[in-house]
Amino acid sequence: MAKSRSGVFEKSASELLNIFNASLPFDKKLYKEDIKGSIAHATMLANQNILAEDEAKKIVAGLKQVLEEIENGEFIFDISDEDIHMAVEKRLSQIIGEEIGGKLHTARSRNDQVALDFRLYTQKNNIEISLQIKEFIKTLLKIAKENTKTLLPGMTHLQHAQPINFAFHLLAYISMFKRDIERFEDSYKRADVLPLGCAALAGTPHSIDRDMVAKELGFSKVSLNCLDTVSDRDFALEILFNISTMMMHISRFAEELIIWSSSEFRFVTFSDEYSTGSSIMPQKKNPDVAELLRGKSGRVYGNMIALFTVLKALPLAYNKDMQEDKEAVFDSVETALICLKILNKAVETMTINKENMRKACEVGHLSATDLADYLVKKCKIPFREAHHITGSAVAYAQKLGVDISQMSLDELKKIDSRIGDDVTDFLNLEASMNARNSKGGTSTSSTLAQIATIEEWLK
Ligand code: ARG
Repeated sequence: MAKSRSGVFEKSASELLNIFNASLPFDKKLYKEDIKGSIAHATMLANQNILAEDEAKKIVAGLKQVLEEIENGEFIFDISDEDIHMAVEKRLSQIIGEEIGGKLHTARSRNDQVALDFRLYTQKNNIEISLQIKEFIKTLLKIAKENTKTLLPGMTHLQHAQPINFAFHLLAYISMFKRDIERFEDSYKRADVLPLGCAALAGTPHSIDRDMVAKELGFSKVSLNCLDTVSDRDFALEILFNISTMMMHISRFAEELIIWSSSEFRFVTFSDEYSTGSSIMPQKKNPDVAELLRGKSGRVYGNMIALFTVLKALPLAYNKDMQEDKEAVFDSVETALICLKILNKAVETMTINKENMRKACEVGHLSATDLADYLVKKCKIPFREAHHITGSAVAYAQKLGVDISQMSLDELKKIDSRIGDDVTDFLNLEASMNARNSKGGTSTSSTLAQIATIEEWLK
């Protein structure tokens, strides 16, 4: 009879129930957290004289052996044990005997145990994901530093808008990823409370020391209310939300990489190591990496919505529905980690085609706003009128078949006699980019200031 079935049962569980009820096939991933928690629990029980010193020693040694067996691949996972908690406890009792092994679960329930294991897992990954994002930011920053003067068209509505530099464009993404890191860190701080010691839902009559366990496991606080603690999966929702937001940022960047690597743009070229081929068209190199990054955002949103839906309307406290929390989180965490790794590699190894970026700036009259600004600043013309005059200039340039930045002085003066000789200094693409020198703007000097801020933060 399975360990979780007390004397109240006369018959064993059906095979079908075992398969349906078990979380072991996926929660075995939590073995380290589970054993770590049990060691801290047993140590505390001995400290409180709830267990004898030598009993706790045997339990700890037994748990260490279980850990070794799992890591060596010797451990036999049996689905009828239901979950990792019961599987570890059963093996412990086989090793040190039922008499002492059976004492480990004193003053504890699987409800607070799973809340602990799962929280330890998410906390570890809040950190791991932050570190991986940081690595990617470093890669982007390195490229940014080499491209503070590389012109490319800044867009709105995917239409050429104003000339910007490539570093400035990358710093937009760096800013997003920096906020992502801050979100993971905030979630870490909020989840930094020990759930263990809440037992099934209402605490325990045993004289436990939760503060000691918190210290042992690296939590800075003990949770306030047991009923909340065993019901709470906010920390899981938060990591799912944080991953979803990060993946949305990755997806937007991936989309740009896909566009930029197309024949129409050729702003970037992915290295062969991170490009894929077509099974029929031999000439093709495809951006599958970027497409999968974009696609996987959908998958992690799905995990987030799934857990919200599972938790909605659950009465307090623990309900078995909550076992559905793990696969969603495991999948999103693993997806996030591999996405960050490959994104970093693909970007690190791609070629940036500065020439093509620059050439693209000569299409679309990117310095039109500069002509309007010139008319306002130098000729004291109201902006609305300047806007209209510039429109006529663009129409004239189109008729001539040139970009506004390539129009001669004579042609410009034909549009409005107030236009002076100094106008060409304004229409030049570099000048246009550098004119936007306001804080956070695209000028090279403003971009360098943004880089300096990020470097300071990275320290
Ligand atoms: N395997 C369960 C889960 O993942 C552990 C908690 C079981 N608790 C219970 N009262 N049945 O949620």
